[in-house]
Parts: sequence; C-alpha cells; structure tokens
Amino acid sequence: MKVLNVGGGAREHSIVEALSKSGAEIYSVMKNKNPGIAKASKDYVLMDECEIEKVAEWAISKGVELAIIGPESPLGEGIVDLLESKGIPCVGPSKAAAQIEISKEYARDLMKRNNIPGYVEHRAFDNLEDIRQFLEEFGRDVVVKPIGLTGGKGVKIMGEQLKDYDDVLAYCSEILENEIGGQSRLIIEERCIGEEFTLQAFCDGKTLAPMPAVQDHKRAYEGDEGPNTGGMGSYSESNWLLPFLTKEEYDQAVDIMKQTIEAMAAEGTPYKGVLYGQFMLTADGLKLIEYNARFGDPESMNVLPTLQDDFLTICKGIVDGNLSAAITFDPKATVCKYVVPIGYGVKSLVGEKIYLDEGAIKKTGAELYYASVNEEGGQIYTTSSRSLGIVGVANTISEAEFISEEALRYISGKAYMRHDIGKPESIRRKIERMEEIRGSRSA
Ligand code: AMP
Ligand code: GLY
Repeated sequence: MKVLNVGGGAREHSIVEALSKSGAEIYSVMKNKNPGIAKASKDYVLMDECEIEKVAEWAISKGVELAIIGPESPLGEGIVDLLESKGIPCVGPSKAAAQIEISKEYARDLMKRNNIPGYVEHRAFDNLEDIRQFLEEFGRDVVVKPIGLTGGKGVKIMGEQLKDYDDVLAYCSEILENEIGGQSRLIIEERCIGEEFTLQAFCDGKTLAPMPAVQDHKRAYEGDEGPNTGGMGSYSESNWLLPFLTKEEYDQAVDIMKQTIEAMAAEGTPYKGVLYGQFMLTADGLKLIEYNARFGDPESMNVLPTLQDDFLTICKGIVDGNLSAAITFDPKATVCKYVVPIGYGVKSLVGEKIYLDEGAIKKTGAELYYASVNEEGGQIYTTSSRSLGIVGVANTISEAEFISEEALRYISGKAYMRHDIGKPESIRRKIERMEEIRGSRSA
C-alpha cells in the first residue's frame, strides 16, 4: 500500500519505521532532509508541510492511498479535509476536530460543557481590564496560555516564569498586543502542581485504543531546570504504567479521553487519528493539562518500537472506523534521549555538524531516529530544532537507560543531551514527589 508520511522529525521517522515493518511503500513530505526518512521512503519531496495544496498535488501524483500526518501545523491548516476531499483517507483529525489541540479554548470549553473529569477551571479573555478584575477575585496562582499554537513555548506559569500578578498582566498584554499564538486572545487557568504524564491513544471516531503511559521531560537542563522545550527525552515501563502512576490513575486517564471523544462525536466533530493527553497527578486528583491531535514527540519513540500489532492494520482500522480497542505492545521498558543543538530552548546553533557512527549505535541495540536535521553530502547538520532521538528498549527502565547511554557515546558535535533522564536517581525523585502529593491529599 502506498502511504504518505507528512513531517520530517524523529516522531515521523519512528512512524515511517513502523510503516516499513508493515510493508508499506512510503512517500514523504518534509521541510528538512531527514536522512532516516529519506532512506525508508520510496520517494520524498522537501516542501513546507503547511502548504497543503502543494502537498495534496504531490500525493495525488504519486498515487498514495492513505496518509498519516505527524505534526500539528498542517492539521490546523486543514490538510485532512483537503486530502480526504481528493479521496485519500487520513490518520489524523479534520480541521474541526484538530481544534482540540489548535485552540486551548475549544479543549477547555468542551470539557466544561460536557462535565468531563480532569477539567481545570479556565476563562478566555481579549482585554486587559477584564483580566485585572478576574485576578482580583481569583486570588490563586494562574497559568497564562495563548489560544493558538506556539510550539510549546507560549505557556507561562505563576511561580515559575511569572512572579506575581504584575508579571501575569505584563505577559497577557504582550500576547494581546503581539497576537502570540495567532490571536489577540488568551486563556487563564488555575495553576496545578504535580507530576505529569502522557497518554496516547488511537481513535477511529468512536473507539479509543490506548497505549502505554510515557513521561516526557520538557525542561532543557538536567534536574528539570532551564527553559521549556519541545521535550528532551522520555521513558515508559513494561507494564504500561509509570513508577509513580497506579493502574487506577491510568484507567482514569483513559476514561477522561473516552469521554472526550464521545463528547466530540455527539457534537458532530468525531475525532480520528492519534489523541495525545497530557495529564497531571495533583493533590486534587487527576487533571487534563492539554490535548494534542497527534503522536507526541518524543513519546511516539517510546510506543512505536514496542508495538506488537501491525501498524498499517491499525491505520486502516482508524480510517475505516473499525479499530480494535485492544492494541498489543511488547512488555518492554523504553528510554528515549534527545540530542539537541547547543543553545536549544534559548537560541540553537544552526547549521553545525553532528557526527555519529550509525553502525556502532546499531551494535548497542539502541534505536536511532533522525530528527530535524539536514543531510548534505553525507554530513548531518543541525537546524534550530532537535537533532537525534536515541531509544533504549529493554526489560527494565534502568537497562533501557544504560543502552541509550551506550549509544550516545557514538555521537559528537555542538550538541547536548540530558543524561539524567531514566536514571534511578531521577525516577526516585519523581516517586518521592508523588508520595508527598498523595500525602497532602489525605491530610
Ligand atoms: P501545554 O502547552 O498546555 O502543554 O503547557 C506546557 C506545559 O505547561 C505543561 O506540560 C505543563 O507543564 C505546564 N502547564 C500547562 N497548564 C498548566 C496548569 N494549568 N498548571 C500547571 N502547569 C501547567
Ligand atoms: N512531547 C510534547 C509534544 O509532543 O507536544
């Protein structure tokens, strides 16, 4: 089957590898020349993925029969509606259903309207005077979010980037004036405190098929310090849970996502594709922090290498509306570490050489996924985004972590990575933090 892959990051490289295992013939559209995707594809074109008319034209010229959309931006442009109008079914939501990620206001309003558990109190604003009044009454710590997409960098939190209400007002004014996220509008919501995790699920509009839980690390530096990034690395357990996450909490998260897709179907915007829920375990229980309308990056690299079922069959189930609710994964733990350009999170060093020994990395048993790099004349160059994802897969998190570190020894250049991700000390801190939060629940 001829399958179109849209996107040129490590998430898309892991998608393409899963498609290859299923025997698909792959055609890829990407901005940068990702050598892993280029190698696995029958043909590829370097093109802005948001120029959806051009993407559709190219896909039709290649005779593709199915498309899978990696990143959120083309979803927001309506790539699925366009491709489907040309007879190419897509693993990805329509523009209307992608609002679950594209508009933070839509996502929160949907949960509120439908009384879905995990809702965090929020309000939308388009002027500073209303915000001032709201804050006077609210009195608690808040989080400020532009409504639209900001590449993970638009959310600011009181107690972290924002000191007090004066800082909150200054940031709100900046969003409204500069239309950060594409609109002169924002939401303010209650600040939650706790441990976060990701739950990804396949959806065909009615059925939700969840995957193992994953924990990403958003901060740039070790010990969860420094600026927020797209994600520096992530891990998963062999039993679908996380060292700080119980089966009951995992099931609650699945239930929140089920209620969400039921509500979307009932409102006439059925959701199909991969739904990504970012959750936080807090003293007040489980909260939904945000939804994404796609696989996570890095989180796709934790689940796709351990997928036991045939990926193409799952994709067909999604587009045909007969997805199986129970997808099987190898009972393995995974640790993914991202290699990123020096300066990533603030100002990346672009166009720098990254050196790697693919053969030696393979021998360690680790998976190597190329991310937003460019290949020219056999040499890899950095872009402003992440460079390489390295994934260890083993029976335990610490064995998987060891494998990822072995592989990292064969990568050099003006790049860095967080060595702490998946290390026992880092995991222990998360368990202790969660114990403290649970303790304050019963107090
Ligand atoms: P988002 O883009 O909504 O995922 O937000 C990015 C990050 O901001 C999340 O992963 C959280 O760490 C943090 N965040 C978002 N909303 C909240 C909230 N209501 N309370 C505390 N932290 C939040
Ligand atoms: N890991 C965060 C994201 O994919 O948005």
